[in-house]
Amino acid sequence: MPNVLVIYASTHGHTGKIAARIGAALERDGVTVTLHDVRACGAHPAPLGYDAVIAGASIHAGHDQRELVHWAERHRAALGSVPSAFFSVCLTAADDTDESREATRGYIAGFVEKTGWTPARTATFAGALQYREYDFVTRLMMRLLMRHMHHETDASRDYDYTDWDAVDRWAHELVPALAVAASVA
Ligand SMILES: Cc1cc2nc3c(=O)[nH]c(=O)nc-3n(C[C@H](O)[C@H](O)[C@H](O)COP(=O)(O)O)c2cc1C
Repeated sequence: MPNVLVIYASTHGHTGKIAARIGAALERDGVTVTLHDVRACGAHPAPLGYDAVIAGASIHAGHDQRELVHWAERHRAALGSVPSAFFSVCLTAADDTDESREATRGYIAGFVEKTGWTPARTATFAGALQYREYDFVTRLMMRLLMRHMHHETDASRDYDYTDWDAVDRWAHELVPALAVAASVA
């Protein structure tokens, strides 16, 4: 049974939900999952000892959370020695345009360049607008930005743009590679 680390960084919680969903999908396929929030206190697990690693972060002002970037930089040699995957969460992915696709590719390329880690598989998932989680300034800024981008501006509720079936499918499709890794470990 493959033993997989799913590690993530999440500022407002949505990437944590996606990481948990990936973990649950893997567990349904018989994978043993350790879910870890890299922003939580305490020592962060190293990739060694796991058959595979899946990491995820979300984009804020064009950047992934620095804690996940630092973790991947620190462990890039070990990450290169196990099957690995990275998922990026952002709002740009909610737009179905060439421009947004180029931007989301750029976010992944930026992560790879910054960390020196090239995951075998990558995915980008549309995230959420969580007005009710934001502080006053962030809410105001996001409403202005969303008005400009023709997205929802009613801050009395949150908006979830994630294609949860696509998250389940992505996790499920990772399983054969994870199982092979476990059988040769
Ligand atoms: C302050 C702020 C800045 C953001 N900047 C970007 C951005 O530059 N590009 C983008 O595509 N999404 C951006 N987003 C959208 C987030 O990536 C999206 O809300 C995601 O679901 C956040 O995940 P989290 O809840 O794990 O933090 C931003 C969100 C916030 C609140």
